[in-house]
Amino acid sequence: MSDPQWWQRGVIYQIYPRSFQDSNGDGIGDLKGIEARLDALVALGIDAIWVSPIFPSPMADFGYDVADYCGIDSRFGTMDDFDSLLAACHARGLKLLLDFVPNHTSDQHPWFAESRASRDNPKRDWYLWRDPAPGGGPPNNWISDFGGSAWEWDEATGQFYYHAFLKEQPDLNWRNPEVVEAMLGVLRFWLDRGVDGFRIDVLWHMVKHADFPDNPPNPAWTPAMGEMFRVLQLHSTDQPEVHGIARDMRRVADGYSPERVLIGEIYLPVERLMDYYGRGAPEVHLPFNFQLIEAPWKAETLARLIADYEAALPPGGWPNWVLGNHDRPRAASRFGPEQARVAAMLLLTLRGTPTIYYGDEIGLAEVPIPAERVVDPRELNEPGKGLNRDPVRTPMAWDDGDTAGFTRGEPWLPLHDDWRTRNVAAQRGDPGSIWSLYRDLLALRRERAALHVGDWLPVECAGDILAYARRHGDERMLVVLNLGDRPQPFAIPEWAGELAVLLSTRGAGADPALLRADEGLILG
Ligand code: GLC
Ligand code: CA
Repeated sequence: MSDPQWWQRGVIYQIYPRSFQDSNGDGIGDLKGIEARLDALVALGIDAIWVSPIFPSPMADFGYDVADYCGIDSRFGTMDDFDSLLAACHARGLKLLLDFVPNHTSDQHPWFAESRASRDNPKRDWYLWRDPAPGGGPPNNWISDFGGSAWEWDEATGQFYYHAFLKEQPDLNWRNPEVVEAMLGVLRFWLDRGVDGFRIDVLWHMVKHADFPDNPPNPAWTPAMGEMFRVLQLHSTDQPEVHGIARDMRRVADGYSPERVLIGEIYLPVERLMDYYGRGAPEVHLPFNFQLIEAPWKAETLARLIADYEAALPPGGWPNWVLGNHDRPRAASRFGPEQARVAAMLLLTLRGTPTIYYGDEIGLAEVPIPAERVVDPRELNEPGKGLNRDPVRTPMAWDDGDTAGFTRGEPWLPLHDDWRTRNVAAQRGDPGSIWSLYRDLLALRRERAALHVGDWLPVECAGDILAYARRHGDERMLVVLNLGDRPQPFAIPEWAGELAVLLSTRGAGADPALLRADEGLILG
Protein backbone atom coordinates (compact mmCIF):
# COMPACT_ATOMS: atom_id res chain seq x y z
CA MET A 1 0.00 0.00 0.00
CA SER A 2 1.44 3.35 -1.01
CA ASP A 3 1.58 6.31 1.29
CA PRO A 4 -1.29 5.76 3.71
CA GLN A 5 -3.04 8.84 5.10
CA TRP A 6 -3.12 9.64 8.81
CA TRP A 7 -6.72 8.47 9.02
CA GLN A 8 -5.60 5.05 7.83
CA ARG A 9 -2.54 4.67 10.09
CA GLY A 10 -3.99 6.49 13.07
CA VAL A 11 -6.44 5.94 15.89
CA ILE A 12 -9.49 8.10 16.55
CA TYR A 13 -10.73 8.93 20.05
CA GLN A 14 -14.34 10.01 20.58
CA ILE A 15 -14.97 12.75 23.12
CA TYR A 16 -18.47 13.32 24.45
CA PRO A 17 -17.84 16.96 25.34
CA ARG A 18 -20.36 17.25 28.19
CA SER A 19 -18.50 14.53 30.04
CA PHE A 20 -14.81 14.97 29.34
CA GLN A 21 -13.60 17.93 31.40
CA ASP A 22 -15.37 20.92 32.90
CA SER A 23 -13.35 24.13 33.25
CA ASN A 24 -15.83 26.54 34.88
CA GLY A 25 -17.58 24.52 37.57
CA ASP A 26 -21.01 24.24 35.94
CA GLY A 27 -20.72 20.45 35.92
CA ILE A 28 -20.70 20.27 32.12
CA GLY A 29 -17.59 19.56 30.11
CA ASP A 30 -16.40 22.25 27.70
CA LEU A 31 -13.80 23.15 25.08
CA LYS A 32 -11.31 24.69 27.51
CA GLY A 33 -11.58 21.45 29.48
CA ILE A 34 -10.77 19.36 26.42
CA GLU A 35 -7.78 21.57 25.66
CA ALA A 36 -6.49 21.12 29.21
CA ARG A 37 -6.53 17.34 28.78
CA LEU A 38 -4.86 17.08 25.37
CA ASP A 39 -1.49 16.16 26.85
CA ALA A 40 -3.08 13.19 28.59
CA LEU A 41 -4.39 12.03 25.21
CA VAL A 42 -0.97 12.46 23.66
CA ALA A 43 0.45 10.34 26.49
CA LEU A 44 -2.14 7.68 25.71
CA GLY A 45 -1.04 7.70 22.07
CA ILE A 46 -4.10 8.54 19.98
CA ASP A 47 -3.93 10.48 16.69
CA ALA A 48 -7.24 12.32 16.39
CA ILE A 49 -10.19 13.41 18.46
CA TRP A 50 -13.76 13.41 17.25
CA VAL A 51 -15.88 15.72 19.40
CA SER A 52 -19.65 15.11 19.55
CA PRO A 53 -21.68 18.26 18.67
CA ILE A 54 -20.60 21.56 20.25
CA PHE A 55 -22.87 23.89 18.23
CA PRO A 56 -25.58 26.16 19.66
CA SER A 57 -28.43 23.87 20.64
CA PRO A 58 -31.48 23.76 22.91
CA MET A 59 -30.02 20.35 23.95
CA ALA A 60 -33.25 18.42 23.47
CA ASP A 61 -30.94 15.63 22.23
CA PHE A 62 -27.75 16.96 23.86
CA GLY A 63 -26.40 18.79 20.85
CA TYR A 64 -27.72 16.52 18.10
CA ASP A 65 -30.38 19.22 17.66
CA VAL A 66 -28.40 22.04 16.09
CA ALA A 67 -29.76 25.60 16.05
CA ASP A 68 -26.73 27.16 14.32
CA TYR A 69 -24.22 25.06 12.39
CA CYS A 70 -21.54 27.74 12.36
CA GLY A 71 -21.34 28.67 16.03
CA ILE A 72 -20.32 27.27 19.41
CA ASP A 73 -22.82 26.69 22.19
CA SER A 74 -22.03 28.98 25.13
CA ARG A 75 -22.10 25.97 27.47
CA PHE A 76 -19.08 24.64 25.60
CA GLY A 77 -17.33 27.98 25.16
CA THR A 78 -16.73 30.50 22.40
CA MET A 79 -15.41 30.47 18.85
CA ASP A 80 -12.11 31.70 20.29
CA ASP A 81 -12.04 28.67 22.58
CA PHE A 82 -12.65 26.50 19.55
CA ASP A 83 -9.85 28.09 17.54
CA SER A 84 -7.57 27.72 20.52
CA LEU A 85 -8.47 24.03 20.89
CA LEU A 86 -7.87 23.41 17.20
CA ALA A 87 -4.48 25.13 17.33
CA ALA A 88 -3.57 23.21 20.50
CA CYS A 89 -4.46 19.93 18.78
CA HIS A 90 -2.40 20.75 15.72
CA ALA A 91 0.54 21.91 17.84
CA ARG A 92 0.59 18.41 19.31
CA GLY A 93 0.17 16.62 15.99
CA LEU A 94 -3.44 15.70 16.81
CA LYS A 95 -6.26 15.97 14.29
CA LEU A 96 -9.68 17.35 15.22
CA LEU A 97 -12.92 16.02 13.75
CA LEU A 98 -16.29 17.65 14.25
CA ASP A 99 -19.71 16.00 14.36
CA PHE A 100 -21.80 17.14 11.39
CA VAL A 101 -25.56 16.66 11.91
CA PRO A 102 -27.08 17.07 8.43
CA ASN A 103 -30.24 14.95 8.63
CA HIS A 104 -32.14 17.30 10.90
CA THR A 105 -31.87 20.66 12.62
CA SER A 106 -33.26 21.83 15.91
CA ASP A 107 -36.83 23.09 15.74
CA GLN A 108 -35.27 26.32 17.06
CA HIS A 109 -33.06 26.72 13.98
CA PRO A 110 -34.04 29.94 12.12
CA TRP A 111 -34.55 27.86 8.96
CA PHE A 112 -37.28 25.87 10.65
CA ALA A 113 -38.85 28.98 12.13
CA GLU A 114 -39.16 30.30 8.58
CA SER A 115 -40.31 26.98 7.19
CA ARG A 116 -43.15 26.65 9.67
CA ALA A 117 -44.16 30.33 9.37
CA SER A 118 -46.42 29.72 6.35
CA ARG A 119 -46.99 27.31 3.50
CA ASP A 120 -45.62 29.78 1.00
CA ASN A 121 -42.49 30.68 2.91
CA PRO A 122 -39.41 30.29 0.66
CA LYS A 123 -37.99 27.81 3.17
CA ARG A 124 -41.18 25.73 3.44
CA ASP A 125 -39.66 23.06 1.22
CA TRP A 126 -36.40 22.93 3.25
CA TYR A 127 -38.20 20.48 5.57
CA LEU A 128 -40.60 17.62 4.93
CA TRP A 129 -44.17 18.89 5.14
CA ARG A 130 -47.13 16.70 4.17
CA ASP A 131 -50.89 16.81 4.32
CA PRO A 132 -52.73 14.45 6.66
CA ALA A 133 -53.65 11.00 5.36
CA PRO A 134 -57.12 10.80 3.79
CA GLY A 135 -59.46 10.78 6.77
CA GLY A 136 -56.90 12.57 8.97
CA GLY A 137 -53.90 11.39 10.95
CA PRO A 138 -50.24 11.20 10.01
CA PRO A 139 -49.29 10.84 6.32
CA ASN A 140 -47.88 7.34 6.82
CA ASN A 141 -46.88 4.77 9.46
CA TRP A 142 -43.28 5.85 9.94
CA ILE A 143 -42.10 5.74 13.55
CA SER A 144 -39.57 7.99 15.23
CA ASP A 145 -36.37 6.33 16.47
CA PHE A 146 -37.29 7.77 19.85
CA GLY A 147 -40.83 6.31 19.80
CA GLY A 148 -44.21 7.51 18.56
CA SER A 149 -45.22 8.71 15.11
CA ALA A 150 -42.44 10.38 13.15
CA TRP A 151 -44.96 13.06 12.09
CA GLU A 152 -45.79 16.14 14.14
CA TRP A 153 -48.94 18.15 13.47
CA ASP A 154 -48.52 21.88 12.95
CA GLU A 155 -51.80 23.53 13.80
CA ALA A 156 -50.91 26.92 12.35
CA THR A 157 -50.25 25.72 8.80
CA GLY A 158 -52.37 22.57 8.82
CA GLN A 159 -49.68 20.09 7.84
CA PHE A 160 -47.44 17.49 9.44
CA TYR A 161 -43.64 17.66 9.44
CA TYR A 162 -41.39 14.63 9.53
CA HIS A 163 -38.85 13.96 12.29
CA ALA A 164 -36.88 10.71 12.34
CA PHE A 165 -35.86 11.51 15.94
CA LEU A 166 -37.47 13.95 18.41
CA LYS A 167 -40.17 16.34 17.30
CA GLU A 168 -37.60 19.00 18.27
CA GLN A 169 -35.42 17.59 15.44
CA PRO A 170 -37.26 18.19 12.14
CA ASP A 171 -35.66 16.43 9.15
CA LEU A 172 -34.24 18.59 6.38
CA ASN A 173 -35.33 17.98 2.79
CA TRP A 174 -32.12 16.96 1.05
CA ARG A 175 -33.96 16.72 -2.27
CA ASN A 176 -34.03 20.52 -2.24
CA PRO A 177 -30.86 21.88 -3.90
CA GLU A 178 -30.84 24.98 -1.66
CA VAL A 179 -30.56 22.74 1.39
CA VAL A 180 -27.67 20.88 -0.23
CA GLU A 181 -25.87 24.14 -1.00
CA ALA A 182 -26.44 25.59 2.48
CA MET A 183 -25.18 22.46 4.20
CA LEU A 184 -22.15 22.01 1.96
CA GLY A 185 -21.40 25.61 2.90
CA VAL A 186 -21.34 24.51 6.55
CA LEU A 187 -18.68 21.92 5.73
CA ARG A 188 -16.63 24.59 3.97
CA PHE A 189 -17.00 26.96 6.92
CA TRP A 190 -15.30 24.49 9.28
CA LEU A 191 -12.81 23.17 6.73
CA ASP A 192 -11.73 26.76 6.10
CA ARG A 193 -11.18 27.11 9.86
CA GLY A 194 -8.87 24.12 9.69
CA VAL A 195 -10.79 21.10 11.00
CA ASP A 196 -9.49 17.77 9.77
CA GLY A 197 -12.82 16.20 8.93
CA PHE A 198 -16.23 15.16 10.16
CA ARG A 199 -18.17 12.32 11.61
CA ILE A 200 -21.49 12.53 9.78
CA ASP A 201 -24.54 11.84 11.92
CA VAL A 202 -27.10 9.26 10.65
CA LEU A 203 -25.90 9.49 7.07
CA TRP A 204 -28.15 6.64 5.91
CA HIS A 205 -31.24 8.53 7.09
CA MET A 206 -30.71 11.60 4.96
CA VAL A 207 -32.99 10.84 2.01
CA LYS A 208 -36.47 9.30 2.24
CA HIS A 209 -38.57 7.69 -0.47
CA ALA A 210 -40.08 10.51 -2.54
CA ASP A 211 -43.63 9.10 -2.23
CA PHE A 212 -43.52 8.33 1.51
CA PRO A 213 -45.06 4.84 1.28
CA ASP A 214 -45.82 2.97 4.52
CA ASN A 215 -42.94 0.97 5.95
CA PRO A 216 -43.56 -2.79 6.18
CA PRO A 217 -44.28 -4.20 9.64
CA ASN A 218 -41.44 -6.02 11.41
CA PRO A 219 -42.60 -9.58 12.09
CA ALA A 220 -39.98 -9.95 14.84
CA TRP A 221 -41.22 -6.98 16.88
CA THR A 222 -42.37 -7.54 20.48
CA PRO A 223 -43.64 -4.93 22.95
CA ALA A 224 -40.41 -5.30 24.95
CA MET A 225 -38.60 -3.64 22.04
CA GLY A 226 -38.42 0.05 21.23
CA GLU A 227 -41.35 1.30 19.15
CA MET A 228 -39.05 2.16 16.26
CA PHE A 229 -38.62 -1.57 15.62
CA ARG A 230 -42.35 -2.04 14.92
CA VAL A 231 -41.70 -1.34 11.26
CA LEU A 232 -38.71 -1.98 9.00
CA GLN A 233 -37.20 1.32 7.90
CA LEU A 234 -37.33 0.28 4.26
CA HIS A 235 -38.59 3.53 2.76
CA SER A 236 -37.45 6.00 5.40
CA THR A 237 -33.69 5.24 5.22
CA ASP A 238 -30.91 4.12 2.83
CA GLN A 239 -32.46 5.47 -0.37
CA PRO A 240 -30.35 5.43 -3.55
CA GLU A 241 -30.26 9.24 -3.75
CA VAL A 242 -28.27 9.49 -0.51
CA HIS A 243 -25.19 8.41 -2.42
CA GLY A 244 -25.28 11.51 -4.59
CA ILE A 245 -25.18 13.62 -1.45
CA ALA A 246 -22.33 11.61 0.05
CA ARG A 247 -20.44 12.16 -3.21
CA ASP A 248 -21.08 15.91 -2.99
CA MET A 249 -19.72 16.02 0.55
CA ARG A 250 -16.65 14.04 -0.51
CA ARG A 251 -16.00 16.45 -3.37
CA VAL A 252 -16.00 19.29 -0.88
CA ALA A 253 -13.53 17.52 1.43
CA ASP A 254 -11.28 16.46 -1.45
CA GLY A 255 -11.25 20.06 -2.64
CA TYR A 256 -9.16 20.78 0.48
CA SER A 257 -6.90 17.72 0.71
CA PRO A 258 -6.94 13.93 0.90
CA GLU A 259 -6.15 14.32 4.60
CA ARG A 260 -9.60 15.73 5.37
CA VAL A 261 -11.63 12.71 6.34
CA LEU A 262 -15.35 11.92 6.29
CA ILE A 263 -16.72 9.20 8.54
CA GLY A 264 -20.32 8.12 8.12
CA GLU A 265 -22.51 6.95 10.97
CA ILE A 266 -24.40 4.13 9.29
CA TYR A 267 -26.15 1.20 10.94
CA LEU A 268 -26.74 -1.21 8.04
CA PRO A 269 -25.83 -4.79 7.13
CA VAL A 270 -22.32 -5.07 5.70
CA GLU A 271 -23.33 -5.37 2.03
CA ARG A 272 -25.32 -2.11 2.19
CA LEU A 273 -22.66 -0.41 4.29
CA MET A 274 -20.08 -0.99 1.56
CA ASP A 275 -22.05 1.17 -0.89
CA TYR A 276 -21.13 4.21 1.22
CA TYR A 277 -17.47 3.94 0.22
CA GLY A 278 -18.87 4.89 -3.17
CA ARG A 279 -19.30 2.77 -6.26
CA GLY A 280 -17.68 4.63 -9.12
CA ALA A 281 -17.18 7.98 -7.41
CA PRO A 282 -15.89 8.09 -3.81
CA GLU A 283 -18.25 8.82 -0.89
CA VAL A 284 -17.15 8.69 2.76
CA HIS A 285 -13.63 7.52 3.61
CA LEU A 286 -14.87 5.43 6.51
CA PRO A 287 -18.43 4.15 6.82
CA PHE A 288 -18.46 3.27 10.52
CA ASN A 289 -18.29 -0.47 11.11
CA PHE A 290 -20.23 -1.20 14.29
CA GLN A 291 -20.12 -4.99 14.14
CA LEU A 292 -17.96 -5.39 17.25
CA ILE A 293 -20.62 -3.54 19.23
CA GLU A 294 -23.36 -5.82 18.04
CA ALA A 295 -21.84 -9.28 17.63
CA PRO A 296 -21.92 -12.00 20.28
CA TRP A 297 -18.48 -12.32 21.90
CA LYS A 298 -17.65 -15.75 20.45
CA ALA A 299 -14.45 -16.65 18.64
CA GLU A 300 -16.27 -18.33 15.77
CA THR A 301 -18.70 -15.46 15.22
CA LEU A 302 -15.95 -12.86 15.32
CA ALA A 303 -13.66 -14.87 13.03
CA ARG A 304 -16.41 -15.10 10.45
CA LEU A 305 -17.49 -11.49 10.66
CA ILE A 306 -13.92 -10.19 10.35
CA ALA A 307 -13.24 -12.38 7.32
CA ASP A 308 -16.59 -11.48 5.72
CA TYR A 309 -16.02 -7.78 6.30
CA GLU A 310 -12.51 -7.97 4.82
CA ALA A 311 -13.89 -9.83 1.81
CA ALA A 312 -16.75 -7.38 1.30
CA LEU A 313 -14.57 -4.24 1.19
CA PRO A 314 -14.55 -2.61 -2.24
CA PRO A 315 -11.18 -2.06 -3.96
CA GLY A 316 -9.35 0.70 -2.09
CA GLY A 317 -11.95 0.72 0.72
CA TRP A 318 -10.16 1.15 4.05
CA PRO A 319 -11.60 -0.84 6.99
CA ASN A 320 -12.47 0.55 10.43
CA TRP A 321 -13.62 -0.82 13.78
CA VAL A 322 -15.63 0.60 16.67
CA LEU A 323 -16.11 -0.93 20.11
CA GLY A 324 -18.35 1.65 21.71
CA ASN A 325 -19.91 5.09 21.38
CA HIS A 326 -22.27 7.48 23.13
CA ASP A 327 -25.34 5.54 21.98
CA ARG A 328 -24.38 1.93 22.65
CA PRO A 329 -23.46 -0.30 25.59
CA ARG A 330 -20.03 0.19 27.20
CA ALA A 331 -17.40 -2.45 26.36
CA ALA A 332 -16.52 -2.95 30.05
CA SER A 333 -20.15 -3.78 30.81
CA ARG A 334 -20.64 -6.10 27.87
CA PHE A 335 -17.45 -8.06 28.31
CA GLY A 336 -16.49 -7.62 31.97
CA PRO A 337 -13.19 -6.15 33.18
CA GLU A 338 -10.96 -9.01 31.97
CA GLN A 339 -12.42 -9.46 28.50
CA ALA A 340 -12.55 -5.67 28.05
CA ARG A 341 -8.75 -5.89 27.89
CA VAL A 342 -8.91 -8.63 25.25
CA ALA A 343 -11.43 -6.52 23.34
CA ALA A 344 -8.98 -3.58 23.42
CA MET A 345 -6.32 -5.81 21.92
CA LEU A 346 -8.71 -6.94 19.20
CA LEU A 347 -9.79 -3.37 18.39
CA LEU A 348 -6.20 -2.16 18.15
CA THR A 349 -4.77 -5.06 16.15
CA LEU A 350 -7.39 -5.55 13.45
CA ARG A 351 -6.70 -4.05 10.04
CA GLY A 352 -8.23 -0.61 9.74
CA THR A 353 -8.82 2.55 11.71
CA PRO A 354 -10.01 1.99 15.30
CA THR A 355 -12.24 4.42 17.18
CA ILE A 356 -11.88 4.44 20.97
CA TYR A 357 -14.75 5.80 23.04
CA TYR A 358 -13.57 8.05 25.92
CA GLY A 359 -13.47 6.19 29.21
CA ASP A 360 -13.00 2.78 27.66
CA GLU A 361 -9.28 3.22 28.30
CA ILE A 362 -9.93 3.24 32.05
CA GLY A 363 -12.42 0.38 31.80
CA LEU A 364 -15.34 2.68 32.59
CA ALA A 365 -18.53 0.60 32.79
CA GLU A 366 -22.15 1.69 32.50
CA VAL A 367 -23.20 3.76 35.48
CA PRO A 368 -26.66 3.13 36.96
CA ILE A 369 -28.69 6.34 36.79
CA PRO A 370 -31.28 6.98 39.52
CA ALA A 371 -34.71 7.63 38.00
CA GLU A 372 -34.72 11.27 39.07
CA ARG A 373 -31.45 11.93 37.24
CA VAL A 374 -32.38 10.39 33.87
CA VAL A 375 -32.04 12.98 31.11
CA ASP A 376 -31.79 10.97 27.88
CA PRO A 377 -34.95 11.77 25.87
CA ARG A 378 -34.96 8.26 24.50
CA GLU A 379 -35.36 6.78 27.99
CA LEU A 380 -37.83 9.48 29.03
CA ASN A 381 -40.00 8.73 25.98
CA GLU A 382 -39.93 4.95 26.35
CA PRO A 383 -38.91 4.15 29.90
CA GLY A 384 -37.80 0.75 31.12
CA LYS A 385 -36.90 -0.85 27.81
CA GLY A 386 -33.15 -0.64 28.26
CA LEU A 387 -32.84 2.28 25.84
CA ASN A 388 -31.23 4.75 28.24
CA ARG A 389 -27.97 6.23 26.93
CA ASP A 390 -27.11 8.20 30.10
CA PRO A 391 -25.20 5.23 31.61
CA VAL A 392 -22.62 5.36 28.78
CA ARG A 393 -22.21 9.15 28.90
CA THR A 394 -21.04 9.68 32.48
CA PRO A 395 -18.10 11.94 33.39
CA MET A 396 -14.50 10.96 32.78
CA ALA A 397 -12.43 10.40 35.91
CA TRP A 398 -9.01 12.03 35.96
CA ASP A 399 -7.84 11.71 39.55
CA ASP A 400 -8.97 10.85 43.07
CA GLY A 401 -9.76 14.43 44.05
CA ASP A 402 -13.32 15.52 44.69
CA THR A 403 -15.53 14.77 41.67
CA ALA A 404 -12.61 12.97 40.03
CA GLY A 405 -11.00 16.11 38.62
CA PHE A 406 -13.89 16.38 36.16
CA THR A 407 -15.48 19.48 37.67
CA ARG A 408 -15.45 21.81 40.65
CA GLY A 409 -19.24 21.64 40.71
CA GLU A 410 -21.91 18.96 40.54
CA PRO A 411 -21.39 16.64 37.54
CA TRP A 412 -24.37 16.65 35.16
CA LEU A 413 -24.49 12.85 35.40
CA PRO A 414 -23.23 10.79 38.35
CA LEU A 415 -19.68 9.44 38.43
CA HIS A 416 -18.99 5.71 38.61
CA ASP A 417 -18.74 4.36 42.18
CA ASP A 418 -15.10 3.33 41.99
CA TRP A 419 -13.76 6.60 40.61
CA ARG A 420 -11.33 6.99 43.53
CA THR A 421 -9.33 4.13 42.03
CA ARG A 422 -10.65 3.98 38.48
CA ASN A 423 -9.21 7.23 37.14
CA VAL A 424 -6.49 8.25 34.72
CA ALA A 425 -3.93 9.36 37.33
CA ALA A 426 -4.15 6.13 39.31
CA GLN A 427 -4.00 3.99 36.18
CA ARG A 428 -1.09 5.87 34.64
CA GLY A 429 0.91 4.96 37.70
CA ASP A 430 0.02 1.28 37.43
CA PRO A 431 1.70 -0.74 34.65
CA GLY A 432 -0.96 -3.44 35.03
CA SER A 433 -3.93 -1.09 34.48
CA ILE A 434 -6.16 -1.09 31.42
CA TRP A 435 -5.00 2.49 30.69
CA SER A 436 -1.40 1.21 30.53
CA LEU A 437 -2.52 -1.65 28.30
CA TYR A 438 -4.18 0.83 25.91
CA ARG A 439 -1.00 2.96 25.91
CA ASP A 440 1.19 -0.09 25.21
CA LEU A 441 -1.13 -1.31 22.46
CA LEU A 442 -1.21 2.13 20.85
CA ALA A 443 2.58 2.43 21.04
CA LEU A 444 3.11 -0.98 19.46
CA ARG A 445 0.56 -0.26 16.79
CA ARG A 446 2.28 3.01 15.92
CA GLU A 447 5.71 1.39 15.88
CA ARG A 448 4.85 -1.62 13.69
CA ALA A 449 3.76 -1.15 10.11
CA ALA A 450 2.34 -4.69 10.15
CA LEU A 451 -0.16 -3.46 12.75
CA HIS A 452 -1.09 -0.08 11.31
CA VAL A 453 -1.12 -0.87 7.61
CA GLY A 454 -0.37 -4.59 7.18
CA ASP A 455 -2.58 -7.28 5.70
CA TRP A 456 -4.87 -9.31 7.91
CA LEU A 457 -4.83 -13.10 7.60
CA PRO A 458 -6.90 -15.59 9.56
CA VAL A 459 -4.85 -18.19 11.44
CA GLU A 460 -7.09 -20.17 13.73
CA CYS A 461 -10.43 -20.24 15.35
CA ALA A 462 -10.90 -23.15 17.74
CA GLY A 463 -12.83 -23.16 20.98
CA ASP A 464 -12.37 -19.75 22.55
CA ILE A 465 -9.23 -18.93 20.57
CA LEU A 466 -9.25 -16.34 17.83
CA ALA A 467 -5.88 -15.97 16.10
CA TYR A 468 -4.78 -13.92 13.12
CA ALA A 469 -1.65 -12.66 11.48
CA ARG A 470 -0.70 -9.16 10.39
CA ARG A 471 1.85 -8.89 7.62
CA HIS A 472 3.70 -6.04 5.96
CA GLY A 473 6.65 -6.78 3.66
CA ASP A 474 8.85 -9.15 5.64
CA GLU A 475 7.31 -8.19 8.92
CA ARG A 476 4.99 -10.78 10.42
CA MET A 477 3.01 -10.59 13.62
CA LEU A 478 0.63 -12.96 15.30
CA VAL A 479 -2.30 -12.06 17.53
CA VAL A 480 -3.83 -14.79 19.69
CA LEU A 481 -6.90 -14.00 21.80
CA ASN A 482 -8.54 -16.21 24.39
CA LEU A 483 -12.15 -15.04 24.51
CA GLY A 484 -12.98 -17.41 27.34
CA ASP A 485 -12.32 -17.48 31.07
CA ARG A 486 -10.43 -20.79 31.06
CA PRO A 487 -6.89 -21.57 29.86
CA GLN A 488 -6.73 -22.62 26.20
CA PRO A 489 -4.01 -24.44 24.29
CA PHE A 490 -2.85 -22.93 21.01
CA ALA A 491 -0.88 -24.64 18.24
CA ILE A 492 1.73 -22.07 17.20
CA PRO A 493 2.01 -22.13 13.40
CA GLU A 494 5.44 -23.02 12.06
CA TRP A 495 6.07 -19.61 10.51
CA ALA A 496 5.59 -18.00 13.92
CA GLY A 497 7.91 -20.36 15.81
CA GLU A 498 10.63 -17.70 16.19
CA LEU A 499 8.34 -14.85 17.21
CA ALA A 500 8.54 -13.43 20.71
CA VAL A 501 5.66 -12.35 22.91
CA LEU A 502 5.59 -8.54 22.73
CA LEU A 503 2.50 -7.88 24.80
CA SER A 504 0.03 -9.81 26.92
CA THR A 505 -3.21 -8.50 28.38
CA ARG A 506 -2.19 -10.33 31.56
CA GLY A 507 1.38 -9.19 31.93
CA ALA A 508 4.49 -11.30 32.47
CA GLY A 509 4.58 -15.06 32.28
CA ALA A 510 2.83 -15.59 28.93
CA ASP A 511 3.10 -18.92 27.09
CA PRO A 512 1.67 -18.79 23.55
CA ALA A 513 1.18 -22.56 23.58
CA LEU A 514 -1.17 -22.25 26.54
CA LEU A 515 -3.07 -19.01 26.94
CA ARG A 516 -4.24 -18.06 30.37
CA ALA A 517 -7.91 -17.30 31.03
CA ASP A 518 -8.93 -14.00 29.36
CA GLU A 519 -5.51 -13.54 27.83
CA GLY A 520 -4.62 -11.88 24.57
CA LEU A 521 -1.11 -11.98 23.12
CA ILE A 522 0.77 -10.18 20.41
CA LEU A 523 3.82 -11.92 18.99
CA GLY A 524 6.31 -10.33 16.68
C1 GLC B 1 -27.09 9.70 16.04
C2 GLC B 1 -26.40 10.13 17.30
C3 GLC B 1 -27.36 10.06 18.44
C4 GLC B 1 -28.51 10.99 18.16
C5 GLC B 1 -29.14 10.69 16.80
C6 GLC B 1 -30.02 11.81 16.35
O1 GLC B 1 -27.46 8.37 16.08
O2 GLC B 1 -25.26 9.34 17.51
O3 GLC B 1 -26.77 10.37 19.68
O4 GLC B 1 -29.47 10.90 19.15
O5 GLC B 1 -28.17 10.54 15.80
O6 GLC B 1 -29.23 12.91 15.96
CA1 CA C 1 -18.38 23.81 31.86
